[in-house]
Amino acid sequence: MINPRTLSLPCGSCRWVREINIVAVGGCHNPNIDFMELRIAKVTPKKEGNVNAFVEMEWNKWVKKNGYNHKTKKYAFAAYANKKIVGYVSLRINGGTAYLSQLIVSDSVRGHGVGTSLLKKFESYAKLNKCHLAYLETHEKNTAALSLYKHNGYNIIATMTNNRFHFTWYILSKRLKVAQ
Ligand SMILES: CC(C)(COP(=O)(O)OP(=O)(O)OC[C@H]1O[C@@H](n2cnc3c(N)ncnc32)[C@H](O)[C@@H]1OP(=O)(O)O)[C@@H](O)C(=O)NCCC(=O)NCCS
Repeated sequence: MINPRTLSLPCGSCRWVREINIVAVGGCHNPNIDFMELRIAKVTPKKEGNVNAFVEMEWNKWVKKNGYNHKTKKYAFAAYANKKIVGYVSLRINGGTAYLSQLIVSDSVRGHGVGTSLLKKFESYAKLNKCHLAYLETHEKNTAALSLYKHNGYNIIATMTNNRFHFTWYILSKRLKVAQ
């Protein structure tokens, strides 16, 4: 485990950042790692392969030890009217829950049931993937979305004031009946 007691302090007189290991007395518990060398670097496309391999390996160890899979499956559906795209929904499925990540309908066809159809598709796919819970988020100013979700059985389970864009955001959820 990375030693959490390594501090990065900006030097007062130049632009360098000094790293101070506050457990330096007696050394770190892991003799193989010199935490004075710890460096956090942005993952660039060139490094992505190595980093992804590391992440995959560490998560596989986690899954083996803890017995549940962290992996998220992602799906997306488009709605077509006369072969033209008029709406889109995307979702993420993990651990028996389905999260609606995006829902949008062309403003030219709003109010005609496309949003409802896409929401129902989201739920049916969640059930197909044995999800017992669907959840999503929206904010106070999106009255159309709030109304759509409430009409379809979603309840507000969390309120986050002064959140993104300083709006009040809501997390809404709905229990799903999973076929055995
Ligand atoms: C929210 C959105 C997806 C709804 O799509 P839609 O196709 O218009 O929805 P529907 O026609 O299926 O409407 C279903 C219900 O939503 C609600 N609704 C839709 N438009 C509404 C509006 N302008 N004002 C209030 N309620 C509205 C109503 O409850 C409606 O049911 P009703 O017709 O029985 O009254 C659409 O307005 C949209 O794309 N908005 C911009 C993107 C967005 O906000 N996405 C959601 C992010 S959380």
